[in-house]
Parts: sequence; structure tokens; C-alpha cells
Amino acid sequence: MGEFSRRNMLKAGGALGALGALGVAAPAQARVWTWSPSGSVAGAGAGADPRWVWDEEADPLVASLIDRGDVPRVNELLRTWTKNGQPLPDGLPADLRDFMERARRLPPWTDRGKLATAVGFNDRRGLYLGVLYGFASGMMSTVIPKEARAVYYSQGGADMKDRISKTAKLGYDIGSRKAYDADGEMIVTCVKTRLVHAAVRHLLPKSPYWQRSADEEIPISQADMMVTWHSLPTTVMKNLTAWKVPIPAAESAAFLHSWQLAAHMLGIKDEYIPASWDEADSQAEQVLDPVLAPTPEGVKLADILLNLGAAIDAGILSKRVLGAFTRFLLGDRIAEWLKIPRYPLWDGLLDTLWGPFIAVREGVLKVFPGADNTYWLFDELLRKVVLVYLSEARQISIEIPLTNNPD
Ligand code: HEM
Repeated sequence: MGEFSRRNMLKAGGALGALGALGVAAPAQARVWTWSPSGSVAGAGAGADPRWVWDEEADPLVASLIDRGDVPRVNELLRTWTKNGQPLPDGLPADLRDFMERARRLPPWTDRGKLATAVGFNDRRGLYLGVLYGFASGMMSTVIPKEARAVYYSQGGADMKDRISKTAKLGYDIGSRKAYDADGEMIVTCVKTRLVHAAVRHLLPKSPYWQRSADEEIPISQADMMVTWHSLPTTVMKNLTAWKVPIPAAESAAFLHSWQLAAHMLGIKDEYIPASWDEADSQAEQVLDPVLAPTPEGVKLADILLNLGAAIDAGILSKRVLGAFTRFLLGDRIAEWLKIPRYPLWDGLLDTLWGPFIAVREGVLKVFPGADNTYWLFDELLRKVVLVYLSEARQISIEIPLTNNPD
């Protein structure tokens, strides 16, 4: 069966049997979305299946900016727009300005009290959060097939270091003290990212590489965005819990709130955004866990990520250490998909001593039961991973792409 007819079959639905027969992993869009909007921040919803919902406001607008040749000028103007409270620059096309004025408004359910609590949480937990965003979420994105392919074949796929810095900017901005305040940058980052995603929806379907490998017509649906969202806060919280990091309930709720707002500001509809951690976990079980699978593109992206650390510190961030850390964070199944070998020494150290290391760091345990050297190594690992993934995040400017990955 030709690729094109397979794509059409999927679009029409009902192609699961044929896919199984072809030995192709069932794509996310083939799975029915059953999560109820009663568990969302909106509390109710029209019930539209988010696999077929994109961004009806931003998509046609950005497609038109690209087709009108306005993007280079817009990117240049938007480089100066960095703070949430800053007026939009003069000279933007009127339709874009109108959209951005609407898109930058926080929703009525914004809770400033929770955001203030989130600041304390981010301050205290910044190091763990940086490592988990950069590494657990980053590596997980390589086994989300639709995301891996979209990233690989879009413009950013040609320069992964740059792309990682841009994505890390969002992790940096959401964790900064002023995140959603007038002098913070999170709203700007989200609105710009919303424009980038809209551009990708217009550009990627034209990439011959993507056409050949993907099972969908238009990328980055609302369902896809929630899948990726779970690779961020839901996965981070799962790891913090597994590490037994003590987190007061109010801080956990505040962290969730800051990510609910991020979802809204990225253009995800309120009816798909989980209202609580229980709802988030149940949605992730339905939409994230079943879609995880290896792809050739994801394996290559993971390899690039594993090699990045050695440029900073070949000793502590060698490929083997980062490989073992990936296995430790995401488990054997994902490590094997990503063709990460076993490193008995490091696998063993992490399995046995990471728990006590965190306990000592948290003041729960007084003495580190292994050698002090291991404690120091783990501490360096935390610091250096954060350095690699968040180092350039501050100065980066997120821009609307005009092309796909030429490779
Ligand atoms: C771009 C974050 C969902 C694919 C970006 C950027 C950020 C970001 C910060 C700008 C960085 C850049 O320009 O490279 C997020 C977050 C998401 C999400 C927080 C969900 C909560 C998705 C999904 C897909 C996707 C579901 C694909 C299925 C892309 C692509 C780019 C991009 C292809 C553009 C890369 C380029 O060509 O430069 N995203 N994203 N994203 N995102 Fe997302």
C-alpha cells in the first residue's frame, strides 16, 4: 500500500487492522479520546475530539503571514517584545496585533495566590526541575512519535542545540520568579510559541520527508499538545514523587496551576486541560502512555541529546552517564527503544544510591551511605545537566519559521 493511500485511510479512520498487518505502530490519532471535559479546568466542553482540533485563530492568520511574505519583518519586530507587560511593537500587521492582544490575556481562572506559591516551589526545586525538564521530558519527547517526526522534519530539526535552547527557554521562563508578572517573560514565550506551532502546521505538510513518514495531514493537534504537556509537568511530578522529594500539597497544586496557564496560553482549549493531578494522571494514562513508541527520527534525536553533554564535560556528562540516567529516569523499555546500552556501573550506582542521595540533599538522611565521591558525582550531574539544557535559554529569541528541515 502506498504511503499516500495509507495516510488517507488514517484520515478517514478505521485503519487500525491494516496498520497492525503492516507492523506499523498505531499512531496517536487512531486512538479514541475518551477523557471527559468534566475533569477539565473549564468543567464542561463541547466534546469535540481534540485529535481533530488545531488552533482556529492562529493557524489561518500565520498561514496568511507566511503567504504574504510578512514573516521576516514580524520576526524582526517581535525580537524587541520580551516582557509580558510590554506593549506590542509598532508596525505589526493589524490582524496579527489584534490576535496577539487577545492571546496575551491571562484567563479569568488565573489564581495569583497559587502563582506566588509556585515561585517558592520553583526556587526551592529549580535544580531538580531543570534536570527533569531538560532530560526526562526532553528524552520522553523522542519516544512520542508524532512529536519526534514533527521536530525532526521542521526547521529546528536541522540544529538541535539551538532548538533545545529555545524549548528550554519555556522551562526557564515558567520557573522564573516573575513568570506571569508584567516584567516576566512566560506570556511572551507562550504567545510566540503559539505562532510557531501555527507556522509548523502550515509548513510541515509540505515537507516531502514528513509526508513520507507521518500518518497525519496536519501536525500539532490539541490532543498532541496535551500529550506533550504530560511529558512536562506530569512526568516531572511523577519523578519527584518517585525520588521521594517532600512537596507540600499547596506547592504541588501551585506547580500544576502554572502549567495549566501555560497550556491555555499556548492555545490549548480549557476543556482539555486537567483540573487536578488526579485528572492529569488519568488523562496521561489514556493519551501519553499508549502512544509512546520508537521511531527512526526519535532514535536520532535521542542520540543527539545524549551527545550534547560531552561538549560541556566529557567526564561527568559522557554519553554513558547520560544514557544510564535516561534508563534510570524513563525505564528499561524506553532505554531499549532508544538503543541505549546497559552501563552496569552507572546503572547500579543510580539504582542503589540516587534515593539516598536525594534523601541526604533533602535533609531526610544525615549520612550518605555510599562513598562521598558518589554524592559529589550525583550533585555535579544535577548541576551540569541543568547547565547544558538551560544555559542559553535566557537570551534566545523564538521566531516564526519559514522553512522545514532541508535534509
Ligand atoms: C516549537 C514548546 C507541543 C512541535 C516549540 C517551541 C517551544 C515549544 C517553546 C519554540 C522553540 C522553537 O522554535 O524551536 C511546546 C510545548 C508544547 C508543545 C510546551 C506542549 C505543551 C508540541 C507538539 C508538537 C510540537 C505536540 C508536535 C507534535 C514543535 C515544532 C516546533 C515547535 C515542530 C518548531 C521547531 C522549529 O522548526 O523551529 N514548541 N511545544 N510541539 N514545536 Fe512545540
